[in-house]
Amino acid sequence: MHQAVFYQVYPQSFADSNGDGIGDLPGLISKLPYLKSLGVTALWLNPIFESPFGDAGYDISDFRKVAARYGTNEDAIRLFQEAHKLGLKVVLDLVAGHTSDEHPWFQSAASDPKSPYREHYIFTGDEPQQSMFGDSIPRTAQGEHFVANFLPFQPALRYGYKHPDPSKPWQLPPEHPACLAVRVELRDIMKFWLDLGCDGFRVDMAASLIRGPGDNTILARLWQGFRSWFDRDYPEAVLVAEWGNPIEAINAGFHIDFLLHFGEPAYTHLVGSPNEIIGNRRVPHVFFERSGEGDIRLFLDNYLKHYSATVGRGYISLPTGNHDFQRPRRGRDLADLRVLYAMLFTMPGTPFLYYGDEIGMRNIDGLPEKEGSMWRTGNRTPMQWEHGAPNLGFSTAPKKRLYLPVDPAKDAPTVSKQLADKASLLHLTRSLIALRRKHPGLGNDAEFRPVFAQSGRYPFVYERGTAATGRFLIAINPAAAPCVVDLPALGQARVLLAEGTKRAGTKLTLAGVSFAIFSLPEPARGRAVSRAS
Ligand code: BGC
Repeated sequence: MHQAVFYQVYPQSFADSNGDGIGDLPGLISKLPYLKSLGVTALWLNPIFESPFGDAGYDISDFRKVAARYGTNEDAIRLFQEAHKLGLKVVLDLVAGHTSDEHPWFQSAASDPKSPYREHYIFTGDEPQQSMFGDSIPRTAQGEHFVANFLPFQPALRYGYKHPDPSKPWQLPPEHPACLAVRVELRDIMKFWLDLGCDGFRVDMAASLIRGPGDNTILARLWQGFRSWFDRDYPEAVLVAEWGNPIEAINAGFHIDFLLHFGEPAYTHLVGSPNEIIGNRRVPHVFFERSGEGDIRLFLDNYLKHYSATVGRGYISLPTGNHDFQRPRRGRDLADLRVLYAMLFTMPGTPFLYYGDEIGMRNIDGLPEKEGSMWRTGNRTPMQWEHGAPNLGFSTAPKKRLYLPVDPAKDAPTVSKQLADKASLLHLTRSLIALRRKHPGLGNDAEFRPVFAQSGRYPFVYERGTAATGRFLIAINPAAAPCVVDLPALGQARVLLAEGTKRAGTKLTLAGVSFAIFSLPEPARGRAVSRAS
């Protein structure tokens, strides 16, 4: 965990080994050496399980079976084994809060009042329910309403309500045996995959399990229970939350939580497209924007709140992107990404690199919806492996059979082109990860201290590490305008990696869109005393 750097694989878009137009596990296995060469230590795979794919696999119909389009359970086991040989961990997606309405549990529960799975779900009789986006949820064939967790075809699993309303008999308390039975199911699913060799889970919508308004104490207790079980039976395994509130998630026992486009506002003020509505808020300017009108404090004050409350107990992740929001390349070019990554890979916590962000894949706008993707189609397009190859090396299938179209641009970035170019974003990403892994003072656990972080001003400068781990100074200027900063520590600093910066004494001049990473000398110990004597 101390050195973990994750790579997120969107399986259907990563590598297609059998030419059916959809990525698969054998394809992913063939790319493990490439992933190893990036310097990452772990992979997170979006759901690979059997599903009608109404929400791209987040609607599971068999938690214990790999979907045929990705391969077989044997392929998954081989993936774990081959990854482990290379020192890579593999983390699966655990969709804990809901199933597909095609899951046999729901099929049985909805059609038979005596079904053993009846109590796994929340049927509300005549009381209509809405999905997360306000769509009304159709009744079952038996004429009943039920609670869905996300989209109408994702019936919520029953973990209970924080404050059950006595007039709504379906709102059971979390300690009710029916709710505890669902927890047992969830534990058994985790055990199934851990015993086959996976290394943990990213938990989808981790905060959604216990329902209703009110604080999350009972929800935290539920996850703490799973964490104690992990610590006892699978002490090496990792629990990563999709919660968007590291204070809550880490208190609940997760090892890692993300700052994201929803939940706490930090990430949305750092990366994103200006004026975009992210989650439910419009963000007029973000810090990583050439206009220079972003405000680092809007990110940093929230970040520090979570950092100081969790440091030493868990990790915050600032991902480059993910399958639910725009790629960082949207509204930015490759030069901007270099500066963004210089920051993301030198911050504390656990970096997550979304597939294709290492080469700066574009967000492909204007594509039709695919498998419930809604606004998320353009950030899920196929990985761009090889310049000049059919479908840029993703698949040998005819274009019309591809899961999604590949980037049609002539200058679409590819792994092959960037491998051949020492100045590419791919090489920079590798260098940043290598630097982080080489120097404990730049690592996941090392201290973090803002040095220059003023509202409405650029650059952002911070220090990492201590005398024991080595100390580092990082300066980041995403704005187009140059800026100058006086840094007393700069005097004897040694440049490790810099683009577009100049120093004179304690003054650092940063050109537009530039960064620098310095190592700082150890404070001279005892010299003052010997001089005085
Ligand atoms: C996942 C989404 C998914 C949703 C429902 C999430 O937050 O990341 O991709 O659609 O949960 O499972």
